[in-house]
Amino acid sequence: MFSSLFNRFVLAAGLALSTLGAAAQDNIMTVDAGKKGIPVPGTMYGLFFEDINFAADGGLYAEKVKNRSFEFDDPFMGWNIFGNVTICDDGPFERNPHYVRLAYPGHPAFVTGLENEGFFGIGVEEGKEYRFSVWARTSGDKEKELISFRLCKNATMGEDQAFCRGYIEVDSREWKKYEAVITSPITEAKASLRIFLEHLSPGQGIDLEHISFFPVETFNGHENGLRKDIAEALQQLKPGVFRFPGGCIVEGTTLETRYQWKNSVGPVENRPINMNRWNYTFPNRLYPDYFQSYGLGFYEYFLFSEEIGAEPLPVISCGLACQFQNDPATDPHAALDELDPYVQDALDLIEFANGDTDTQWGKVRAEMGHPEPFNLKYLGVGNEQWSELYPERLVVFMEAIRKQYPDIKIIGSSGPYRDGKDFDELWAAMRELDVDLVDEHYYAEESFFENNADRYDGYPRKGPKVFAGEYACHGVDGKKWNHFNAALLEAAFMTGLERNADVVLMASYAPLLAHVEGWQWRPDMVWFDNLHVMRTCSYYVQQLYACNKGTEVLPLTMNGRPVAGKEGQNQLYASVVKDSGKNEYIVKVANLSSDLQEISICFTRLPRRQKLAPEVCCTTLHSDNSLAENTLDKPDQIVPTTSHIADGLKDNTLTTVIGPKTFAVYKLTYSE
Ligand code: AHR
Repeated sequence: MFSSLFNRFVLAAGLALSTLGAAAQDNIMTVDAGKKGIPVPGTMYGLFFEDINFAADGGLYAEKVKNRSFEFDDPFMGWNIFGNVTICDDGPFERNPHYVRLAYPGHPAFVTGLENEGFFGIGVEEGKEYRFSVWARTSGDKEKELISFRLCKNATMGEDQAFCRGYIEVDSREWKKYEAVITSPITEAKASLRIFLEHLSPGQGIDLEHISFFPVETFNGHENGLRKDIAEALQQLKPGVFRFPGGCIVEGTTLETRYQWKNSVGPVENRPINMNRWNYTFPNRLYPDYFQSYGLGFYEYFLFSEEIGAEPLPVISCGLACQFQNDPATDPHAALDELDPYVQDALDLIEFANGDTDTQWGKVRAEMGHPEPFNLKYLGVGNEQWSELYPERLVVFMEAIRKQYPDIKIIGSSGPYRDGKDFDELWAAMRELDVDLVDEHYYAEESFFENNADRYDGYPRKGPKVFAGEYACHGVDGKKWNHFNAALLEAAFMTGLERNADVVLMASYAPLLAHVEGWQWRPDMVWFDNLHVMRTCSYYVQQLYACNKGTEVLPLTMNGRPVAGKEGQNQLYASVVKDSGKNEYIVKVANLSSDLQEISICFTRLPRRQKLAPEVCCTTLHSDNSLAENTLDKPDQIVPTTSHIADGLKDNTLTTVIGPKTFAVYKLTYSE
C-alpha cells in the first residue's frame, strides 16, 4: 500500500527521482547490526516538572479553588465576599491558621457569602461529578446551620446565574469535614463557586476552612489527585524518569521561600503555602495570585512517578538561594556551617521514600497510604548552581548521603549555561567530586540544535554521566514559540542523545506544562486551559523517541561518520536502536533540508538467523509550514502519521524517500 502512496507522493510533488534534493547514492546510511549495542538506559526519556505557568496549582493538581485556606498574603485573594464575612486566625490547622467566619449580615434581605474565582475560572464538564468539601463548625447561637454552594456563570443572560447547587448542613460546634458531590449539567470553562449562609437571622455564625472543589474523576481516582487529561498526556509520553519539583522553585528567591519538601507532605489541610517565585519573576508577566498550595506535594509526585512507570527524581536545595536573583555580596545563602538542616532534609527525604514503616519518615509515607517504599534511586542536589559556592556545599551533601545511602545516585549541576567558563569549571568540579550524573541545561536558539547533534560524541566515557535536564529549542527572530521547525530541530538533536546512550542517561524537555492564561515562560511541551489539553509538536517528538527507545543503540554511519547533519550529510540526522523484546530495528531520521531526499538504510552484519520482514512501518511528523503550531483550537494540526512501505526493502537495505522538513521513524521487524 505504501508503495502506491509513495509513488503518488513523489509524483504529486512533481519530483522525479532525478530531481530529488540528494540521490540515494549520496544518502547511504549503514547500520552495523552485528555489533553488540549500547544498552538504552531505562531512564530515557524523561519529564521535567516544575510549578511554573500554573503547572501544579491551576494545572496538573485537580483542585479548583484558589486560596482555599485563606493563607495568601491577602487572605481574600481569589475570593469575593458579600455581607458579614471576617477572617480569623485560630483555626484547626496549625500551619494554616486562617479561616472565615460568616455571620448575620444585619438584615434578612442582605446576604452573607463568598465566591471563589478559581484559576482563570473554574472548569466543569457536563455530566461529570465534583466533590465540594469544607471544614466547618457553627459559631453562633444555633446548633445547626445550612450553607449552599453554587456553580455560577456570572456572564449569563439566563434568569439564574447558578447552574448547579448543593447544600451542606453543619451540625456541630467542633471542626468537622463535610462534603457533597454534585453533577454539572453543563460544560463551562469559567464558572465561579459561590457559597451562601442560608436562613438569615440574628445570632447566626458559621466558620469555614479549607474550602475545596475537586473533580471526582481524577487520574487513577485519587481523592487529592491529578487532572486526568493532563496526567494522561504525560503518561502517554512513557517517561523513564520524572524530575520534580523544579527548577528554580527548588532554590527560592530567598532560602525561606525555597521548596521545603517536608511542608508538602501529611494532611493537605496542614501543608503551609509558599509564594511561587514565578509570581513576580517576570514583571511583564505578573501573577500576584500565584502561590504553591503544596496540595501536589512530594507524596503525590512519588506516587505519580510510580503510576506512570518513571523513576522519581527529586531535586533539593543545597543551601544556595537562587544565584540569578541574589548578589553574592548580600550573602543570601546558608553558610557552610549552617548546612546541617539542609543535609538532614536530604537524608530524611530518602527515608521518606525508601525507609521502613517504623522509621520516622517511612511512617509518614505509610500513613499517607503507601507502606511500600517508592524505591528512590536518584537525588538532585541543587538546581542551576555555580561558582565555588556550589562544589563546597555539594561535597557536604555527598559525604552524608553516600555514608548512609551508598546506592543513591547523586546529580550535580553544571549551571545554567551550556558551555563557557562556568560550565567547564563546574564539570571539572563534578568530575573531581565524582558525582554520578551532571545536569545540563540548554534553552537555545535554532542553530544550536542544528549544529550540535554531535555534542556528546566526544564526551569522556568515564566519570559522571549526563542528565540533559532542561532543554528546548527557542525560535528566534520573531518566530512562533512551539512551531514545527523548533520541534524538528529537537528531533534532529535528539539523535545525538540517543546515539550516546552510554553517556546521556536522562534527558527532559522543559518546561513541561503551561496554562494558556497563566504562563510566564515559553515554549512549553503541553498547553492547557480549564477544559482542554494541547500537545505541541515538541511533545510528539518526545513521544516518538520515548515510545521507540528500543533496548540497545547500534552504530549508524553515513560516509563513515555518525549522521549529525555535518558536511556531506545533506542536513540529515539519524540514529538507530534495536528492540530485542519486540524484534525490531528502529531508525530515526530527521531531514532538515527543504528537499525531498532519497535515503538508503543498509543493515550490515545481520546475525545469520535474522530475516528482515519486507514491510516497513514508517511514522512521520511533518508540516508544510515551518512556523505552524498546534493550538488549543486546532490541537491536531500537526500529529504523527503512520504508513507502511511494502516494497522498499531489498538485500537488507531500505530505500525510500524522506520528505522535506520531516522527522521519520522507520520500524523494521525481524524474525529469527
Ligand atoms: O524551566 C524554567 C527554568 O529554567 C527553570 O526553573 C530553571 O531551572 C531554568 O532556568
